[in-house]
Amino acid sequence: MSSTQEPQARPRILSGIQPTSDTIHLGNYLGAVRQWAQLQEDFEPFFFIANQHAITVEHDAKLLRERTYRAAAQLVAAGVDPERSAIFVQSHVPEHAQLGWIMECITGFGEARRMTQFKDKSAKIGEGSVSVGLLTYPMLMAADILLYRPQYVPVGEDQRQHLELTRDLAQRFNHRFKKTFRLPEAYIPKATAKIMDLQDPTSKMSKSASSPAGLIDVLDDPKVTAKKIRSAVTDSGSEVRFDEAEKPGIANLLRIYSALSGTEIEALEKQYAGKGYGDFKKDLADVVVEFVTPFRDRTLALLDDRAELDRILAAGAEKARAVAARTLVDVYDRVGFVAPVRSADQ
Ligand code: AMP
Ligand code: TRP
Repeated sequence: MSSTQEPQARPRILSGIQPTSDTIHLGNYLGAVRQWAQLQEDFEPFFFIANQHAITVEHDAKLLRERTYRAAAQLVAAGVDPERSAIFVQSHVPEHAQLGWIMECITGFGEARRMTQFKDKSAKIGEGSVSVGLLTYPMLMAADILLYRPQYVPVGEDQRQHLELTRDLAQRFNHRFKKTFRLPEAYIPKATAKIMDLQDPTSKMSKSASSPAGLIDVLDDPKVTAKKIRSAVTDSGSEVRFDEAEKPGIANLLRIYSALSGTEIEALEKQYAGKGYGDFKKDLADVVVEFVTPFRDRTLALLDDRAELDRILAAGAEKARAVAARTLVDVYDRVGFVAPVRSADQ
């Protein structure tokens, strides 16, 4: 049986995060990383730090190295268990770049240029200074995914279009050559797919936000975090009610509150009936601090033991390569690359 048809004992999941900041933000945690920890129970999980994606925009080498460790420590602190999940660094598995090239060769130039994230970022940076890597980023992402033939890819809403391209490319390859790739599905939990900026609740929470007050960095001093929640923009009126259109600020805070406390939004609305925004935000600040404080302690402790992080990442890369290398052998064969014959075999 060829390796692509090998049955998987448990269906796989795969996701990645870019090491582009010192700390993940609450959107990354609730939109993505928290699901990773939850899904590892029922799936065979692969999670990686997308350091090759992180250099598609100008970067600092020293910071990238440090942030790679920080990302790894935060995944473990969030409950991703290195015994159960393969946690690895993208550049430790060269098959990602190798398959990335093949994906680039089956993608149309216009198709790549139409990606929303590319359009937005190139508009910001300027078409003249934008890198070719930023254009081909979704093809590398497709390779990241398809190598492992996962059933689900847990990500936030902003990655949906890249997932659709990945499916198109998988289908195109399967059709043009031979059925090789499984079509992965995005796994986007509705309630937390898009956590919004606390100061501008019509934009998603993002590290490139215009004001740091809108962003909850999970590793920030919990006192600073509490203050940001208490100063979050609220809407006119005084009723704590979930209404995305009329009250985007309160709706966002209700989502965060519900996700972190496990209390349904309707129950929270009842709990705060007749109370004002001030009480609500004060309580939410406590809920957030209760989450970030132990998270931060665990991350900082892990960062003190680099040798252990190196061991985790080495073990993860070994697990990942075992799968990725097999897929790439099939792909190379199907596109017609002559297999290398070692001189000793001749
Ligand atoms: P990034 O930091 O861009 O590598 O994103 C890591 C993960 O977090 C991806 O799955 C994103 O879709 C997700 N994510 C980023 N921002 C948000 C947000 N504001 N709300 C929900 N998920 C998000
Ligand atoms: N593009 C993703 C982001 O910015 C990170 C990423 C790279 C990824 N490769 C991936 C996510 C593969 C899921 C699967 O968040």
